[in-house]
Order: sequence, then C-alpha cells, then structure tokens
Amino acid sequence: TALVPLRHYLQFSDFSADDYAYLFARAALIKKKFKAYEKHQPLADRTMAMIFEKASTRTRVSFEAGMYQLGGSVVHLTTGDSQLGRAEPIEDSAKVISRMVDLVMIRTYEQTKIERFAEHSRVPVINGLTNEFHPCQILADIFTYIEHRGSIKGKTVAWVGDGNNMANTWLQASEILDFKLHVSTPGGYEVDQAVAGIRSSESYKVFKDPMLACAGADLVTTDVWTSMGYEAENEARKKAFADWCVDSDMMKAAKPDALFMHCLPAHRGEEVQAEVIDGPQSVVWDEAENRLHAQKALMEFLLFGRL
Ligand code: CP
Ligand code: NVA
Repeated sequence: TALVPLRHYLQFSDFSADDYAYLFARAALIKKKFKAYEKHQPLADRTMAMIFEKASTRTRVSFEAGMYQLGGSVVHLTTGDSQLGRAEPIEDSAKVISRMVDLVMIRTYEQTKIERFAEHSRVPVINGLTNEFHPCQILADIFTYIEHRGSIKGKTVAWVGDGNNMANTWLQASEILDFKLHVSTPGGYEVDQAVAGIRSSESYKVFKDPMLACAGADLVTTDVWTSMGYEAENEARKKAFADWCVDSDMMKAAKPDALFMHCLPAHRGEEVQAEVIDGPQSVVWDEAENRLHAQKALMEFLLFGRL
C-alpha cells in the first residue's frame, strides 16, 4: 500500500465533505468486520505515539484498542512521565517523536500547541482534544447520527450549554456537512465564530432560550459545564449554567424522533437529567463505541488515503 502526502487532523475543517463521506462509509465497513471477528490489519508494524496532557477514558481506550486491532501498536506518554512536562520545546519533541513512529495523537490545552507540533512533525498528527476543538468526537457523533437516521445534511442539531471545544467543532461541522446548528449558551459563554474558524454565520443560529434552540431539532446535544482546564471556574459556572440542563421538556420541544448525544463523561443533574441520558432517545453508548470504529477509519486514511 502506498503512503500518501502528509496530512494532519487538527480540526474538523481539515477534511472536506467528500473526505467525510469516505470516512463514514469506511467506518461502517470496519465496524462490520470487527463485529464479525474478521481480521483487518492494514497498520501492521506501524506505531502511534499518544500524548496526553489531560485525563481520558474514551480517547485513550478507543485509539489504543483501535491501533492494536489494526495490527499496530502504541506508545503512551503523559506530561508527568516524559520530558514534555520538563519544558523540552514542543518543536524538539515533535522532531524526535515523529522520527520514531508513524502517527501521533495529542490531547493538550491550546490549539496552537498541537499546531506547532504538527508543523515540525514528519508524520500525521491527530487532535485528541484541545481547549478549542474535539474533531474525533464529532467524527464519531455524526457517524452515529448517520447509523440511526441517515444523512445529517439539512437536519437541525441543537447545542445546549458551554461554547466550548465541542461547540466549536459542531460549528465547523455544520458548515462543512451542510446542516443547521442551533446554539444556546449562557451569557459570557457564547461561541465565537473567529475561534471556531468558520467563514460565515449561515450554518448556525444563536438562541438565548435553550428551549427555543431545541424546538424542531433532529438531534439535541450537550457537554459538561466545566471542561478540563477550567476547574477554577466551576462554582461560577454552576450558577450561570443552571438553566442549561437538557431535560424531558427540552426533548419534547425537539422532533418526536430526535436523538440525544453527549460526548461523556456526563454529570446527571447538571448538564443533563438522568431521564434523558438514560432514556430511549439517548444514543450515548453507541456514540462512545463509535469512537473506536471512526478513528480506525481515520488512522488508516491518514496513512494510506482512500483504500
Ligand atoms: N469523550 C471523550 O473524549 O472522553 P475522554 O475524555 O474519556 O477521552
Ligand atoms: N468539553 C470537555 C470534553 C471532554 C471529553 C472537556 O474539554 O473537558
């Protein structure tokens, strides 16, 4: 198999609608093979370095298990047990690590950090979450939507809560995949088109009232009130976000067949009520599982292109 020109996945907008169509189809195929216990090992003898500067359950397990299933292996690094935590320049780390492995996945704070790493990397770099973006999650989320309801094009997605990394990524996705995003955040926690890096405001609409954002939605989604790295703001956020809790009234305002998603970890009684996340419209467990299948398609794609 021929290697393709170097490409990174640092934000959702790094790929086109056409790339996503391929990735969703490929993820479905890879998932089917996995369920049938069929061997699928195009990444035999390949290694991925996984760098975590923040905690993780899903991202670590899905990338690590996924890489093994594809025939490869991983090296797991954290800030505390590598020179990354002792101020070795990110550029030097990128030059060194990328001479030894075939792929790098990074979960860190500022997006600029992963960009600097990518600039000096010889191999594809994957964003495993930054303060600004979480593209692998939305890749899995939209794959999950398609599995349950078909194409997301022209549909309405309601985002209720913080204007955070997930919200920014949904904004990018709405522009690329041509669906409508309704965003409702408390004052002071709005999404910023410039941070999200989208060209126009055509694909999204801002609502003060989360109930109105949910009205007629095909998918309602939310996330924690306090993201990793913002723990000092926890108390202030709890007060500000009190009315941004997805409950059964919000789900009733959405379409009768609307789905509920949450990237997890969740806090029942804060951003979502148990009746919703554990209710019949919730697809959060499929969403989590699909991280595995979608990212296996992603890793293959970055190394070999369209197979
Ligand atoms: N959704 C998600 O990225 O979860 P982790 O923080 O557990 O990786
Ligand atoms: N917005 C959350 C997502 C966790 C997967 C955070 O950044 O902590």
